[in-house]
Amino acid sequence: MKKLIYGNLKMNFNLKDMENYCELFLKKVEQSKNEIAIFPSFTNLMFTKQKLTASKVLLGAQNLSSEVSGAYTGEISADMLKSVGAELVIVGHSERRKLFLEKNETINKKIKQALSQGLKVVLCVGETKYERQNRKYKMALEKIISETLKGLYENELKNIIIAYEPIWAIGTGVLPTVKEIEEAANIIRNQVSVEFTSQAAKNLKLLYGGSVNTQNCKQFLGANGINGLLVGGASLKADEFAKICNS
Ligand code: 13P
Repeated sequence: MKKLIYGNLKMNFNLKDMENYCELFLKKVEQSKNEIAIFPSFTNLMFTKQKLTASKVLLGAQNLSSEVSGAYTGEISADMLKSVGAELVIVGHSERRKLFLEKNETINKKIKQALSQGLKVVLCVGETKYERQNRKYKMALEKIISETLKGLYENELKNIIIAYEPIWAIGTGVLPTVKEIEEAANIIRNQVSVEFTSQAAKNLKLLYGGSVNTQNCKQFLGANGINGLLVGGASLKADEFAKICNS
């Protein structure tokens, strides 16, 4: 079965680095059966799109504005992303929640902006270490799903991919067990069936993200209910990420 392997490059790579990365990476994934996407920084989007013309690799952005246009200095709109060839956009990453104080209400608006321009959304959800240790993760995940997907129509869900990224596993090397991921996947699907329908929950594509590398990717890809991976640090090394993409 085709898996979705997405690389969130975060705030890395100037234009020259991006060029080198594309040169190395694209050759290595030409034969991959999986759906691959890379999410470079805004400034590298247009250039990367040109590099991807002869490739099946998809292009995504890491964030977007919750507003349509106007006096929002420094913001990038869904329309702008679409116009440079982005097909996907990450919304609600925990780094944006923690460092830029993004709330579920804003994330909900961002999702609606992205969908209105025909961008697919990769919605990140995940609990903190405190919530995990105090067995509050179920409540935390349900609240995020319920508030960020509020007011959406069921048919819009086909353009939303949810990435389960436990915050305590991001960039830490601390890994959840496959059982913990499967339990979280169930919680997420159940909440989607409460908010929408069981069919929508069944069709939902779910990714796992957090300290994924070449050694552990297979075990996560084998987890029940997981359709792919959202890779951070390991996606920065063209070689390593290509290995994950080809697994
Ligand atoms: P790491 O793979 O570096 O833990 O990052 C995961 C992530 O945040 C992907 O969005």
